[in-house]
Amino acid sequence: MFDPDPDLIAALRRARRIVASTGAGISAESGLSTFRDAQTGLWAKYKPEDLATPQAFQRNPRMVWEWYEWRRSIVATVEPNPGHAALARIETARPDFLLVTQNVDGLHAKAGSRNLVELHGNIRRSICFDQRHPAESWTRGEDIPPHCAQCGSLLRPDVVWFGETLPPDALRRAQQAAADCDLFLSIGTSTLVYPAAELPYIAGSNGATVVEINPDATPLSRLANFVVREKAGIALPAIAAAMLGKP
Ligand code: OAD
Repeated sequence: MFDPDPDLIAALRRARRIVASTGAGISAESGLSTFRDAQTGLWAKYKPEDLATPQAFQRNPRMVWEWYEWRRSIVATVEPNPGHAALARIETARPDFLLVTQNVDGLHAKAGSRNLVELHGNIRRSICFDQRHPAESWTRGEDIPPHCAQCGSLLRPDVVWFGETLPPDALRRAQQAAADCDLFLSIGTSTLVYPAAELPYIAGSNGATVVEINPDATPLSRLANFVVREKAGIALPAIAAAMLGKP
């Protein structure tokens, strides 16, 4: 049984503005492997860094599209876990709570989070490579990847690849919220990929209490005011219950 630190609960109750930032670790308990875990099966010989780039797509669009089709097929079968649900519960109780995620799996929205910034896009959506026209649907025909109905260029997933810039409005909103918050929760992220990794430092340097929830140490651990060495799916429901009462 996990018992959250009473000082952490007091800080959460006191905080007027709370921001949480999540990474692949929060979806691990839903059955999705984290980014830096080995790929499995057919794709085991590839590193995400070699597939999730504009250059990889230009070199071999079919391979990259098929990798995302495979990932989409996995995402379609998984459900949010108690960690996602606890964050949705905190938002219901504290409407100014903002959740920023690096995850592209859509599980926070599925769990009911609405005040949500998806910094790296969403794997369920597609856009075209040349002009970023959104693609609602396409025929699963011979073309892999399919072509954009508006301009004919190839479709790609609406996610941020290595070497690409983040959606500017999403990044600005996340950075502003980090600068303005009283308490920042960093959950299930290795804090290695910038600019998302910078958010807790922005919060900390503006006086916010910084909390890390991760079974393993990260570069953020030394700065954090509270470190919770526990899985998100265990820690977050207990923290939400201590903060808000039993659901
Ligand atoms: P990583 O795979 O780098 O890190 C996952 C983190 O989750 C690790 O620190 C684990 O210790 C932790 N973890 C594992 N299981 C956990 C659990 N049950 N509860 C809590 N934490 C757990 O994933 P990210 O930090 O999300 O970017 O990676 C950041 C970005 O790197 C991704 O969004 C992706 C990738 O490149 C792009 O695609 C642009």
